[in-house]
Order: sequence, then C-alpha cells, then structure tokens
Amino acid sequence: MRPDTTGRTTPYDEADLLRRARAVRARAHVPYSHFHVGAVVVTPTGTYEGVNVENASYRMTTCAEQTAIARMVAEGDRGPVLAVAVVGDGTDPCTPCGACRQTILEFGPDAVVYASGDGGHPLIARIGELLPHGFGPHRLAQGQR
Ligand code: THU
Repeated sequence: MRPDTTGRTTPYDEADLLRRARAVRARAHVPYSHFHVGAVVVTPTGTYEGVNVENASYRMTTCAEQTAIARMVAEGDRGPVLAVAVVGDGTDPCTPCGACRQTILEFGPDAVVYASGDGGHPLIARIGELLPHGFGPHRLAQGQR
C-alpha cells in the first residue's frame, strides 16, 4: 500500500502504471489516426496491458482500455478493476472516451483513472466522476425478473 499523488493509499504504484502504459503504447496498431494509446488495468490479482487496434473499416477500432479489459477477462480475471492508467500521444491527459468509460464501469464501479499525455501531471478521477449517473450492472439487475 502506498499513497498516489492525490494522497490515496493504493496497492499499486501510480508512476509505474503510467510508465508501463507509456511504454506499451509503442505497440499500438494505428495506421489511420497515428495516435498511439496504451493502457494498464489493475485488479487485486493482476495487471493487464492494452493498446488501440485500428482497422481499415474505421469503426471497428478497439481502444487501448478495451483491449486491456478484454485481456483481463480472457485471463479469467473479472476484477474488480481498481485502477486504469491511460497514456496517449501529445501533451494533454488522454482521458478515456465515452465507450471506454462504460467498459471500465462494468468491471470497476470504484476504479480510479490515471490519464496522461507525454508530460505534465496526470488527470486523476474516479470512474463515477468521468461517467456520472452511469448505467451499470447493478441498475440492470434491479429490473430483471
Ligand atoms: N483511443 C483509445 O485507444 N482510447 C481512448 O479512450 C480514446 C481513443 C484511440 C482510438 C483510436 O485508435 C485513436 O485513439 C484515435 O481516436
């Protein structure tokens, strides 16, 4: 357990996650946007890296966060996701897109997101701040008979 830059006590090292997300970004398949994104997802039992994977049929693109979470599930880990580090090209923090926020909510309703660019301070926010009033598994379960 160690404090992150917001003073939260965490079982992971924020700087290490961001370093890994920045490094894995080099493996992104981005022949169309040329915008590299790397992500690392943390659960109580593992960490999973992902990159964005684009396609000639543009809308088939998979974001880095989604690739990382798909790897987590494929490894037999259902979370909960404690944290997600995301690093994209450019200076400003690469905050997860709307679809990725929904994917993170599915497996980590309390996940903390560390979003960064090439430099500067990361943007740090809980998924509930990034996706307020989100529709998740708990709400769905209420309506199921
Ligand atoms: N991208 C991600 O991988 N994650 C995000 O949360 C934002 C966008 C990727 C998708 C696409 O390959 C490129 O960034 C430009 O949109």
